[in-house]
Amino acid sequence: MTDVRADGQRKRVFIRTYGCQMNVYDSDRMADVLRPLGYALSDGPESADLVVLNTCHIREKASEKVYSELGRLRDIKLERRREGADLTIAVAGCVAQAEGAEIVRRQPAVDIVVGPQAYHRLPQLLAEVERKAARRRAGKPFPGAGVLDTEFPAESKFDHLPAPLGVRAGSAFLSIQEGCDKFCTFCVVPYTRGAEYSRPAASVVAEARQLVAAGAIEITLLGQNVNAYHGDGPDGATWTLSRLIRAIAEIDGLVRLRYTTSHPRDMDDELIAAHRDVPILMPYLHLPVQSGSDRILEAMNRGHGRDHFLRLVDRLRAARPDLALSSDFIVGFPGETDTDFDDTMRLIEQGGIASAFSFKYSRRPGTPGALLEGQVPENVKDARLAALQALLGHQQQDFNTAKVGHTVPVLFAEPGRRPGQMLGKSPWLQSVHVAGPASLIGRIAEVRLTAAFALSLAGEIVPPFEVAA
Ligand code: SAH
Ligand code: SF4
Ligand code: F3S
Repeated sequence: MTDVRADGQRKRVFIRTYGCQMNVYDSDRMADVLRPLGYALSDGPESADLVVLNTCHIREKASEKVYSELGRLRDIKLERRREGADLTIAVAGCVAQAEGAEIVRRQPAVDIVVGPQAYHRLPQLLAEVERKAARRRAGKPFPGAGVLDTEFPAESKFDHLPAPLGVRAGSAFLSIQEGCDKFCTFCVVPYTRGAEYSRPAASVVAEARQLVAAGAIEITLLGQNVNAYHGDGPDGATWTLSRLIRAIAEIDGLVRLRYTTSHPRDMDDELIAAHRDVPILMPYLHLPVQSGSDRILEAMNRGHGRDHFLRLVDRLRAARPDLALSSDFIVGFPGETDTDFDDTMRLIEQGGIASAFSFKYSRRPGTPGALLEGQVPENVKDARLAALQALLGHQQQDFNTAKVGHTVPVLFAEPGRRPGQMLGKSPWLQSVHVAGPASLIGRIAEVRLTAAFALSLAGEIVPPFEVAA
């Protein structure tokens, strides 16, 4: 394949990412895979030769969005073809894995469907698309089916990906674990990402070093059950997440370490101790619990009850008193009564949850939950979600307010909404905005917090931070 198009331009790829941080990581890695083929990143489909939709299947809304976007891309593709050019359309991620050939049936303009464990093979898939294009006959704009690659490959993509190149604003994601064997009854992930797999520890540590060398001062270790990590260690032993955290924390130049998403069943003593012992491990933990009702937790197949979660919270706070806890909640799981929902509200209060993502239960085809009796009416789900979000909003505001007057390190990521404003993250993952120059981006500055809102804090840079204007 050539580096440049016939008109002398580099080829351009636009990657749109839906869903979780693992997809954000995968999108970056797809860009790394495509770079040697001559693809530079573009900032919209209009200026791209290749568009990749990296999709999410977690709730119905997320996956339906993909088809409306594909309709728009089809129009661009037809327009291009009228001009004698083309647009290659690829669907990657969890919808690709779940729906496979169905995607091409619903939208024949799609050229490639590639699953989340197979995108290291994009170069071969693109070559196949080129061969098909060469065979295309006049009057038959979409010959044959698209190119599909949605088997879970025997090899691990991690053994085939190039070293990561760019780091945005000092912060990087690093996937260390893929897939899930827990089969919560509401969830598609075990079907879309496959069986649980932990990368060997040496490969993770090597990638962490590469990221730090490329400018990362913060790394977030990722997995759908990141704390179930059990990778082969270079010493022949099996390494747990806490062991890996301790090894990565040794890397010179790394100043912040985070991990997500954790499962309450896999929070072991050593990992709790790491929150006490490892200074660069940030005082923030995302620990999804989904419900505060034992009955519902059982029906969800979560494998633990509310007391287990609350005891964990106590032990974590004993290890790291300033820990901010965030979580995920689902309201309206089949069979959820008012009493079950009250149990969830009380758990949010008792656990002192500082922030959360919360969702109405979405019936997903192929999951056991979809077949359960007692599906909760939409209006009940709406009311419960509103009540839960109001409570969480108060707790988040209180958590933020308690930090006003404190001076905290903020890692700046991007310009804020107002001119001259910069936006960054506190150690507790709160959004903080200050007046400051763009040169703050990718750096940590001490900020005195002056005002708290529900979703952010305002602050002032504390001298003597030297910033080039
Ligand atoms: N591995 C993580 C969750 C990954 S999915 C864990 O075990 O907690 C991210 C979140 O999406 C879940 O925590 C859950 O709150 C939500 N979610 C998953 N499936 C859902 C469904 N069918 N309906 C509504 N929300 C769902
Ligand atoms: Fe889904 Fe449950 Fe696995 Fe999380 S632990 S990814 S919610 S099946
Ligand atoms: Fe969505 Fe797949 Fe992540 S379903 S939440 S993109 S693992």
